[in-house]
Amino acid sequence: MRTQVAIIGGGPSGLLLGQLLHRQGIDAVVLERQTRDYVLGRIRAGVLEEGFVDLMAEAGVADRMEKEGIRHDGTVMAFGEHQVHIDFTRHAGRPVMVYGQTEVTRDLYDARAAAGATTLFQVEDVTLCDLETGKPYVLFRHEGQEKRIDCDFVAGCDGFHGVSRKTIPDNVRTEFEKVYPFGWLGILSETPPVHDELIYSNSERGFALCSMRSHTLSRYYVQCPLTDKAEDWSDDAFWAELKRRIPSEHAANLVTGPSIEKSIAPLRSFVSEPMRWGSLFLCGDAAHIVPPTGAKGLNSAASDVYYLYHGLLSHYLEKDGAGLEAYSEKALARVWKTQRFSWWMTSLLHRFPDQGPFDLKMQVAEMAFLAENDDAQATLARNYVGLPY
Ligand code: APR
Ligand code: PHB
Repeated sequence: MRTQVAIIGGGPSGLLLGQLLHRQGIDAVVLERQTRDYVLGRIRAGVLEEGFVDLMAEAGVADRMEKEGIRHDGTVMAFGEHQVHIDFTRHAGRPVMVYGQTEVTRDLYDARAAAGATTLFQVEDVTLCDLETGKPYVLFRHEGQEKRIDCDFVAGCDGFHGVSRKTIPDNVRTEFEKVYPFGWLGILSETPPVHDELIYSNSERGFALCSMRSHTLSRYYVQCPLTDKAEDWSDDAFWAELKRRIPSEHAANLVTGPSIEKSIAPLRSFVSEPMRWGSLFLCGDAAHIVPPTGAKGLNSAASDVYYLYHGLLSHYLEKDGAGLEAYSEKALARVWKTQRFSWWMTSLLHRFPDQGPFDLKMQVAEMAFLAENDDAQATLARNYVGLPY
């Protein structure tokens, strides 16, 4: 088999890149290790920057998002009973779109299927070969047979646990990592959201987040020790803990109900440099991870897709390789700014196990400054709605 771009991984990065390329007549094959249902069963964040929304429109898959997504003009940052409203539209000139990553992924799979583009599921033992020669190929097993795809480029969109990043030799690759000493216990419930905007809350019992997927589906989180097990948390215990961690005005409005999903996620900041090696280009979680505070995971993946897509377009349509040459540098410049924002939000909003009285005073002072300073609010708003590509 031959294609122009072999895309490893059928998560949002690989699917979005594949769809954008398809619309430009550039051939790409997506190789996914899992089944479609497995990929769609993963619950992830649901706040999309406008840059992401624009890319979905360019890929021709924005119709359902435009209908069912909810635009948010701001968010609430709470510290105990104290609340600061961050007005995105006033400070940054644009809102964000609340639309679940699961729905984004479903729309992309449907568009890919409708376009007749090739996606192979349940591929095993993907091996990337001859990445330095300009004639790369990919070996894998599918439906019990050994297969080979020859290609011009490989897009490594296979997430944090994929093979692509690990194919780059150790002496070329530098990894930067910070692991946080707590997790997020999250639940999804078929209840109306407690508020019409998201609430990020630092309370003396730890962080909490009130989010949503729609007007009838809520997503809530509480910071928890990494030793906790989701199955040990009853729904009642979760709701009681959440109520204690958000301002009483909102706690009084909270509608509770049975959870339809409950899980614990660890928090990690991670970047691998460079994001290109020979014909291999890393995109999204394959190259970097953020803690979820600020919802930058998917959005950070989208900016990589943007740079790679434009690099490939210039290469194929204008015979200009400059965009691909600059890919790693350009993508990493934005990745690090997004890392900084996610780390800052995480540091400001969580209670750390080794946090002393001084560290707490720093959080209090930072929040007080945010409450009274328009520039600080504008900085938060501009980062939250997304830095320019
Ligand atoms: N071969 C083929 N596919 C693989 C392999 C492999 N060896 N390893 C992993 N994959 C697949 C995974 O099954 C997954 O579907 O690659 C896909 C990677 O998808 P994601 O992990 O969702 O990563 P990405 O597409 O970059 O999306 C980034 O999703 O993970 C969230 O928080 C993240 O929101 C961010 C966004
Ligand atoms: C979510 O809805 O899952 C969500 C929203 C905002 C975040 C993180 C997660 O910062």
